Amino acid sequence: MMGVLAEALAASVNMNVGAWKPAPAATEIERRTISWIAEMIGYDRDCGGMFVSGGTMANLTGILTGLRNTAQYDTTTVGLQNDGRHGLFTIYMSDHEGHSSIVRVADLLNLGRQAVRRVPSRRDFTMDVQELERMLDEDVGRGHRPFCVVAQAGSINVGAVDPLEEIAEVCASRGLWLHADGACGAVGAMLPEKQSLFKGLERVDSLTLDPHKWLYIPYECGCILVRDAEKMRRAFSLTAPYLRGTLPTKYTGLDYLEYGPQMSRGFRALKVWMSIKHYGVEGYRKLLSQNLRAAEHLDGLVRSAPDFEALHEPTLFIYSFRYAPEDLRSRASRSGRERALVDSYLDRLNQRITDELQLTGIAFLMTTSVRERTVLRMSICSHRTTLEDIEVVFDKVRELGQALDREERESFKVD
Ligand SMILES: Cc1ncc(COP(=O)(O)O)c(C=O)c1O
Repeated sequence: MMGVLAEALAASVNMNVGAWKPAPAATEIERRTISWIAEMIGYDRDCGGMFVSGGTMANLTGILTGLRNTAQYDTTTVGLQNDGRHGLFTIYMSDHEGHSSIVRVADLLNLGRQAVRRVPSRRDFTMDVQELERMLDEDVGRGHRPFCVVAQAGSINVGAVDPLEEIAEVCASRGLWLHADGACGAVGAMLPEKQSLFKGLERVDSLTLDPHKWLYIPYECGCILVRDAEKMRRAFSLTAPYLRGTLPTKYTGLDYLEYGPQMSRGFRALKVWMSIKHYGVEGYRKLLSQNLRAAEHLDGLVRSAPDFEALHEPTLFIYSFRYAPEDLRSRASRSGRERALVDSYLDRLNQRITDELQLTGIAFLMTTSVRERTVLRMSICSHRTTLEDIEVVFDKVRELGQALDREERESFKVD
């Protein structure tokens, strides 16, 4: 609501927040809002940071800052085209829940998509830190240059939060940049009940979070926080006479264009500033808790229904589950051909459920892959979703599941 109004106001004042001079008020509002967000999630309120288009751009900004500050030579001036450079720059993230946007970052940085190394995860979908250490040793032995570990702070499929404290120890001892991808979930650190889950978040070098996901802000609005603002400046600073004037002046402030990839920048901060003013921290906590209760409620419904399968604990607002009638599940627990047949049948059935559900217009669920099976994924990040909404969707999914199962069993010949 406030976000919608703010978009209109921002468009009407039409400030270019690339530099302080054309937009002193907007710059100060952005600085203040970044500091509030940091404080709200327990990060250093004096950190650097800015609003960008979304999580991918925030990840790019954070990881490029990491590369430029850890590469041991001046990658800003000579780029990666340095004859004296040996070894591949490598990035580490968990194999199951690491997000594709990190691969996009490696791609945009011309490190090659293969620069992203997948660290095996544990049963709870979080990164196995011993495996991380083993891979780092192995890659250093091969002559690679590990420079960054990306920890998930609320993952895309199951809301997993990697062991941030443990990973921070590894990064500190090896001089690696620790970036947390909290596009989906980092805002959860605002909740007192989630403090232990996010322990170590304050130690990350950079952190992505998306106000257009869990702060209910209209698209586009991503956010990057970097503990040491000077490192952002070191990574991005580029000046020209027409950007700042040639003589010093006392009327100056922060020029965002020196701290990130954009030159002209819109007034994205206004919609976040107005929303925080409107809801307040407590208001936000209430809405986030409401989403958590909805995910927990869905988990309860799934666990008490014999034709559904729960796949993980409901950590944050994202919940993945599977429609899987009991008789098929017991057959899938056998081995070999029977299991493969039932699994592929259930994959298809779950895909059809979401396709049909989308057509009803009741809810927009997507499928995803959890441990290589096609499953249903519900993302409950609207401030309007109630427990009754969850029940309506669950009942519809069940009704569709039953009907499609009857229809499909004929043609799929599982029986
Ligand atoms: C964990 C995570 N990281 C990054 C992104 C990319 O964010 P965006 O779509 O805003 O670029 C997403 C989007 O879903 C995400 O869930």
